[in-house]
Amino acid sequence: MARILITSALPYINGIKHLGTLIGSQLPADLYARYMRGRGNEVLFLCATDEHGTPAELAAAKAGKPVAEYCAEMHGIQTQLVQGFGLSFDHYGRSSSPQNHRLTQHFAGKLEEAGLIREVSEQQFYSPTDDRYLPDRYVEGTCPNCGYDKARGDQCENCTKQLDPADLIDPRSAISGATDLELRDSKHLYLRQSAMKDDLDAWIDTKTDWPILTTSIARKWLHDGDGLQDRGITRDLSWGVPVKKGDAPWPGMEGKVFYVWFDAPIEYIACAAEWAEAQGLGDDAWERWWRTDKGADDVRYVQFMGKDNVPFHTLGFPVTILGSGEPWKLVDHLKSFNYLNYEGGQFSTSQGRGVFMDQALEILPADYWRWWLLSHAPESSDSEFNWENFQASVNKDLADVLGNFVSRITKFCRSRFGEAVPEGGTPGEQEAALAAELETRLRAYEGLMEAMEVRKAAAELRAIWVAGNEYLQSAAPWSTFKTDPEQAAMQVRTGLNLIRLYAVLSAPFIPSASARMLDAMGCEDAGWPDEVADALAALPTGHAFTVPDVLFAKISDEDRESWQDRFAGTR
Ligand code: 2FM
Ligand code: ZN
Repeated sequence: MARILITSALPYINGIKHLGTLIGSQLPADLYARYMRGRGNEVLFLCATDEHGTPAELAAAKAGKPVAEYCAEMHGIQTQLVQGFGLSFDHYGRSSSPQNHRLTQHFAGKLEEAGLIREVSEQQFYSPTDDRYLPDRYVEGTCPNCGYDKARGDQCENCTKQLDPADLIDPRSAISGATDLELRDSKHLYLRQSAMKDDLDAWIDTKTDWPILTTSIARKWLHDGDGLQDRGITRDLSWGVPVKKGDAPWPGMEGKVFYVWFDAPIEYIACAAEWAEAQGLGDDAWERWWRTDKGADDVRYVQFMGKDNVPFHTLGFPVTILGSGEPWKLVDHLKSFNYLNYEGGQFSTSQGRGVFMDQALEILPADYWRWWLLSHAPESSDSEFNWENFQASVNKDLADVLGNFVSRITKFCRSRFGEAVPEGGTPGEQEAALAAELETRLRAYEGLMEAMEVRKAAAELRAIWVAGNEYLQSAAPWSTFKTDPEQAAMQVRTGLNLIRLYAVLSAPFIPSASARMLDAMGCEDAGWPDEVADALAALPTGHAFTVPDVLFAKISDEDRESWQDRFAGTR
């Protein structure tokens, strides 16, 4: 049994996320966590809301609420949606937790001791109109790298370049739109990332099995232009982790907080501490996942995130970890994703364009979305949600292939043999061929799931469902029954066992439907199969089952059209 630590990128607290954000990290991370648990490994799966920084402040101001109150409320809403989508986090924490405050200040102190922090007197935008300093996201303008005209002061979302507000061309206030900004002096702390460039370079070079998307982004920031730059890690904001050296004050930094991208990844660690506290466990319980001197050297740590997050996780966070000089666990595998677009454009919160997590669950159960999103995950390139494709995929894969299989077998058995696994007959060549095909496919599926090849794993799972359908079609127990009821009983028995096998194998993708299938088979044993041949004989004869309600309903053209309309973005 291996120990696997899994984290998903932490969604910003401001607002409900759309399906593109969901498939960019939380959902594939959940797929992997469920699979790894299903294989009997010890998994700690963590995520949290990313609550600091300007996105939170701006959203709270817009909602007319104090930031702390706004964050607490939004955390509650996000938690419900996380549960609605079946995301199986062991803990859904908050980057504003006391644990994260302490750890962030601790790391800053250690980095300072190691000589990796320097003070910089920096020119910062001051807006007379807004009567305040404008850090990172409070400034918008044109990206000096790609010309995108809505680039934010911290990063251009078009080309992913990390920016400082002063880099922007034609800067303006994100609060008021004012352009009469003045540059004034303000003292800040910089993390000396450049001092660790060679270490990072050598470390990335060892990651030969990481997705190219991950390593190419890391290498770009290590080598392009002037190479890796030092980064400001403090801001003139009131909401955030106050700047301190461990427990001690930091002279000259009064009234400032750490930059959100400094404290957010540290929350991955703090979240484990929150988890331990919530479980009533001591520090040892979380430290064995995170400290290599306390047992974490045999942990495999896997991170999931969208491509825009890669620089912060391959450069900034590793500098924090390595630079602290303490034995913290570094990431072992970093799985990154491209973007999901929506019907020929982008998802847009402001225009209400695309489907957001709450809306998705209003119209269809989570498994429909999970299946489509995972089977179309933007791995090798950006991908696109469109309603025709969604409808076709749900109707074919889920309703016709899987749902129909389950319904046909269980209903036929009920009508001819009753609601118990029928006895009689001996498996023959056809069953042996089925077992052999499934054996090969199962091993392929396992390999793809281990490798986090999400789309390919979905395709293999679908092929596993199709093999069962083809078997049923050619064995045709409804015909066999007329001449050889015993033989038909054996075919039906094989089919019922297939339902149980499919429930187990499909659980990482469609956990609710899988649970219903297992429940219908009256089965509590969800153990991963060693050998398909054994799995096909797992349910004993006479074992009671029930016919489940329709597993997946088809999406009608009418529904599709009305949803297409509703989410087109008119707001
Ligand atoms: O891009 C985002 O949505 C960030 N909130 C991700 C943070 S990941 C981690 F570092 F906290
Ligand atoms: Zn750009």
